[in-house]
Amino acid sequence: MTQSKFAFIDQTLAERERSGRLRALKGLSPLPGARVRVKGRVLDNFSSNDYLGLSMHPLLRERAIEYTERYGAGAAASRLICGTMDCCLALESKLADLKGTEAALIFNSGYQANVSLLPALADRRSLILSDRLNHNSLIKGAMLSRCRVIPFRHNDTDHLKKLLEENMDKGYSRLIVVTESVFSMDGDCADLGALSELAQDFGAWLMVDEAHAMGVMGKRGMGLACGKKVDLAMGTFGKAGGSFGAYAACSRKVRDYLVNCCSGFIYSTGLPPAVLGTIDAALDLIPGLDEERTLLQFRADRLRATLNAGGFNTGDSVTQIIPVILGDEGGTVSLSKKLEENGILATAIRPPTVPSGGSRIRLSLSAAHTRDQLERLTDAFFGAKDTK
Ligand SMILES: Cc1ncc(COP(=O)(O)O)c(C=O)c1O
Repeated sequence: MTQSKFAFIDQTLAERERSGRLRALKGLSPLPGARVRVKGRVLDNFSSNDYLGLSMHPLLRERAIEYTERYGAGAAASRLICGTMDCCLALESKLADLKGTEAALIFNSGYQANVSLLPALADRRSLILSDRLNHNSLIKGAMLSRCRVIPFRHNDTDHLKKLLEENMDKGYSRLIVVTESVFSMDGDCADLGALSELAQDFGAWLMVDEAHAMGVMGKRGMGLACGKKVDLAMGTFGKAGGSFGAYAACSRKVRDYLVNCCSGFIYSTGLPPAVLGTIDAALDLIPGLDEERTLLQFRADRLRATLNAGGFNTGDSVTQIIPVILGDEGGTVSLSKKLEENGILATAIRPPTVPSGGSRIRLSLSAAHTRDQLERLTDAFFGAKDTK
């Protein structure tokens, strides 16, 4: 070996720097009212996934403290050893009741859930059919399954049907269709009715990632898979839930199987009581937040209409996630900087997070935003456009 063992790191970082894609972490302090303080400046935050403003809610904070005082700081073991506190089981029953499923299982994070659920459901002889715009955690989970994975065209049920027809008699141990319900970078929705019908027609599994729908969409805010024939709906509590953690909502049998065969669940310490407390409080609040959900949808529709009228492209978004798609990476980064100069935090999203040529500002609305903040946002967009 002639090269330093760190050469690949130097090369990668230099390449990122050269192509303008070097990313770095920025420190900030969260403030109430969907704002943050960055280097002494207060910015309106249009980049967070705190869609209902629950991360600052007093009930979540109180219950985090209450659970810590009652149960301690940590779970102290993995779930199957001695890390399943009674309050965790109670939480899983409460969630299953709300979701209308037989059972639910709490995971430590959405990423952990996705990278471990798919390898548990698929064996090497399975076939996973995955929406082309699925989140990185689903892509990595499918890869870890070590089975064949075919991406289907985004939200294209005809393409999926064709793939199912072509592959149904090829001897696969099982077919697994996986999609997000609200797509994280585009804010559009999967047609879960059509996907569920297809999955049933072909005897395939349907797994749905509800990370960006949980709390915001569906009956009582319980997601778009709620009430549909979906074999496994996963979701997270780190977005509209305001804190952290994830879940799989499924049948009792599937839960039993996961408890025994899902290694990402089995070999990891359970969530700390403080987090379980925040999830419990969020589940008490979310069903009663219909007004906030309606407001969020109304504001998102209005913002899209305003941006579209000003010539901005918001793609197929129909939810609280509104991408402003510019395509060009440099232009997107410079727009994000201009917005920041005008008091708006709206992060530029670039490849590889989105496909090449799809650079965008990803706006996410929160019920915690005020009308003034939304006005400042549109003013900043139109101001930035005029100074191009
Ligand atoms: C669609 C989707 N699934 C899963 C995750 C991972 O969830 P978590 O942040 O809880 O790890 C994310 C996070 O960005 C996501 O957008």
